[in-house]
Amino acid sequence: MTNPRTFHVKSFGCQMNVYDGERMAELLGAQGMVAAERDDADLVVLNTCHIREKATEKVYSDIGRLRREDGSTPLIAVAGCVAQAEGAEIMARAPAVRVVVGPQAYHRLPEMVAAAAAGGRETETDMPAEAKFAALPKRRKSGPSAFLTIQEGCDKFCTYCVVPYTRGAEISRPFADLVDEARALVEGGAREITLLGQNVNAWRGEDQAGRAIGLAGLAAALAELPDLARIRYTTSHPADMDDALIAAHGNNPKLMPFLHLPVQSGNDRVLAAMNRSHDAAGYLRLIERVRAARPDIALSGDFIVGFPGETEAEFADTLSLIDAVGYAQAFSFKFSPRPGTPAAAMDAQVPAAVMDDRLQRLQARINRDQLAFNQASVGRRCTVLVERQGRQPGQWLGKSPWLQSVHCIDDAAIGDLVTVDLIGAGPNSLAGRRVG
Ligand code: SAH
Ligand code: SF4
Ligand code: F3S
Repeated sequence: MTNPRTFHVKSFGCQMNVYDGERMAELLGAQGMVAAERDDADLVVLNTCHIREKATEKVYSDIGRLRREDGSTPLIAVAGCVAQAEGAEIMARAPAVRVVVGPQAYHRLPEMVAAAAAGGRETETDMPAEAKFAALPKRRKSGPSAFLTIQEGCDKFCTYCVVPYTRGAEISRPFADLVDEARALVEGGAREITLLGQNVNAWRGEDQAGRAIGLAGLAAALAELPDLARIRYTTSHPADMDDALIAAHGNNPKLMPFLHLPVQSGNDRVLAAMNRSHDAAGYLRLIERVRAARPDIALSGDFIVGFPGETEAEFADTLSLIDAVGYAQAFSFKFSPRPGTPAAAMDAQVPAAVMDDRLQRLQARINRDQLAFNQASVGRRCTVLVERQGRQPGQWLGKSPWLQSVHCIDDAAIGDLVTVDLIGAGPNSLAGRRVG
């Protein structure tokens, strides 16, 4: 096979995978390769997610789907968390896969692809995260809303979760590198940057004066970039919500009033069995403090239903916590036993039908609260960052400060920050009317 000239990167899973996918595309582009649609690409990179069983199974069905009518396949590279966790198994199960590269090693993708094109099958799952960032090309172009990975890995070891195994130990990228990358993104068109990490608020560094700072200090430094209008961060862990970060929601005007703070369960026995290092009351106190700093903050969370041994009464505690918080949105999942995690081997796995029922009831509450939050926003005046064209003529779509989708019919260009009055609300979006 000759060296591929065109490529397609498809990312699954979390925003960090989206970020990694963009970096891989930039890296291949810097080699002179050109982006193409999946069916036309010489090289297809599947950037995979291992978090739940369904996500992992997708890899194998996707590999199957890459076979073309004449029986040929593109050069297939599997990247991301499944590559890290099951690289050898993928190589054994899927002969069409020629490259397996883990999330901390993808800076080596071009040389691995070249070796595979010359007939080899290449695997790299080492974890030198810092080497990766240093080896990536400078950011050049960006949409209005950009992702920036500042922290990777996780030391928390929640008993259900594969991330500490697929992404390795917690590392923080250096302050100066992050300011540089943020500046390049803004020069490339970004008006909003979402700082990413598996535990983004565990980020620690030293500013230009050598002072020890956390995420609040980094956000304060980035707020000094004049053309950067908005800063967000995700995902945070309750244990790393320090005083400075809570205060930043009241004193950094570029930090958007939105906080994704997963709690997983509202029951203390379940939280302990999950090794979450917080209880329900502690989480609620934290929410109160954040709301004291920023009363209009929109809250988001993650929930797992059907953790091993979860009783109906324990599940009811989760519903009560949801009622107490009033989330603006949330993600919820059925427990998925992941190979090698402690929870997968726990007794009293919850039957699928019970999980289905609990998930439905939980999602009904979240949907109720999301609609209520959207309805309560009607009448507010806010800025919206225009991200794309809508389906109707003249319509554009963007995000409110509270991360709601807003649509509006009026002249505006992608990347504009427009002032609107919110005039109508549905479960998933709001209508805006431009002011002035
Ligand atoms: N680091 C983040 C997010 C990790 S993964 C955090 O700690 O919040 C995103 C979400 O997937 C988790 O918050 C959890 O709700 C869910 N999740 C992780 N492992 C899971 C599993 N084995 N089964 C079901 N959901 C899971
Ligand atoms: Fe997984 Fe827990 Fe780490 Fe989040 S904090 S990535 S859920 S182990
Ligand atoms: Fe999935 Fe890996 Fe992200 S397992 S959720 S892609 S860190």
